[in-house]
Amino acid sequence: MKSILITGGAGFIGSHVIREFVNKYPEVKIINIDALTYAGNLENLTDVEGSKNYKFIKADITDAKVIFEIFEEHQPEGIIHLAAESHVDRSITNPLDFVITNVIGTVNLLNAANHIWKGKYEGKRFHHVSTDEVYGALGDTGFFTEETSYDPHSPYSASKASSDHFVRAYHDTYGLPVVITNCSNNYGPNHFPEKLIPLCIHNILNNKPLPIYGNGKYTRDWLYVIDHAKAIDLVFHEGKDGGSYNVGGFNEWQNIDLVKELCSQMDEKLKRPSGTCEQLITYVKDRPGHDLRYAIDANKINQELGWKPSVTFEEGLSKTIDWFLDNKGWLENVTSGEYQKYYSTQYN
Ligand code: NAD
Ligand code: DAU
Repeated sequence: MKSILITGGAGFIGSHVIREFVNKYPEVKIINIDALTYAGNLENLTDVEGSKNYKFIKADITDAKVIFEIFEEHQPEGIIHLAAESHVDRSITNPLDFVITNVIGTVNLLNAANHIWKGKYEGKRFHHVSTDEVYGALGDTGFFTEETSYDPHSPYSASKASSDHFVRAYHDTYGLPVVITNCSNNYGPNHFPEKLIPLCIHNILNNKPLPIYGNGKYTRDWLYVIDHAKAIDLVFHEGKDGGSYNVGGFNEWQNIDLVKELCSQMDEKLKRPSGTCEQLITYVKDRPGHDLRYAIDANKINQELGWKPSVTFEEGLSKTIDWFLDNKGWLENVTSGEYQKYYSTQYN
């Protein structure tokens, strides 16, 4: 059985990619490698854990020896690499963790792929999942294209930019068959509540303040996570060797407007009088080095591979809220213990 190794499959986006691949490719063995950090949660995968073509291996991508052994044993024909430290605010507090996982972890995987494929690259592929944050920040106009120069500002985006450079270097130096996707902000089921949307959903349910950094006019381009998983499937199978593809929602929102839309949908779903949730909005100290605006030009993936988002933001947000309301146990589990400590340090 041919196998594909997916790193970070217990995380937010990774779990949706695992589900997409396990269900769509029953003849392919999907191996999930995840260290189960605070962000990794096997509860995200209960519906696929019994599938014949799915295997979970708890392993840390920073451990080169273990990674080599896994590659030797399973001889994957493809790697889809999502494992990372992913939260900008945590990168400001602990930058080195981001270098270790995002840079060294990625290089370990590149070395292991190079080692087992030994220059025989026919039918092989290393897909690196990256972010639009590597491009830096836009002013009020313009878009990030695949040709935009890298200009990262946070330790997180600097570590992701560095990992992208290593992936390209292995392509150019060794001929390793690689593709990179640079995606905008995802949202959807299983989103860890340290990020804006799930954090606000969690706080609304608990009648806690909704913390808006700075003046709230920072702008992000939001994409429903399942649309990202489908884009990864397309690029992994059909993207051009050595190429990179921007993935985005054609969907820009200033943070304050987004949170107001969330509040209005939640008032309705929770049967609270209109305007109730909005009263929780609280402006707080800004994020240092906060990027003003991200906006993706996703025309290349649209024109070359026919990908486009399948849901509008209002629909995606409604589905997301419904998922959180139906999975309050999940939210409680991930917000107990360690999360409380993180929250009080970050917001008090
Ligand atoms: P996440 O934080 O929800 O999940 C990361 C996963 O990686 C977790 O399961 C965690 O246990 C695992 N992991 C972390 N360190 C590891 C290690 N050393 N070894 C093995 N596993 C480890 O992240 P996410 O939001 O799902 O993001 C996934 C990827 O997509 C990341 O590479 C991120 O940079 C990229 N990305 C995210 C977004 C977004 O909006 N969330 C947008 C664009 C790109
Ligand atoms: O653009 C893609 C990136 O999107 C990914 O690469 C990252 O992994 C992912 O975390 C996300 O980064 P952001 O920093 O944009 O996401 P976050 O949800 O943390 O913040 C979204 C915006 O909301 C940002 O402008 C900061 C702001 N914000 C965030 C939090 C957590 C607030 O105003 N208040 C908050 O409490």
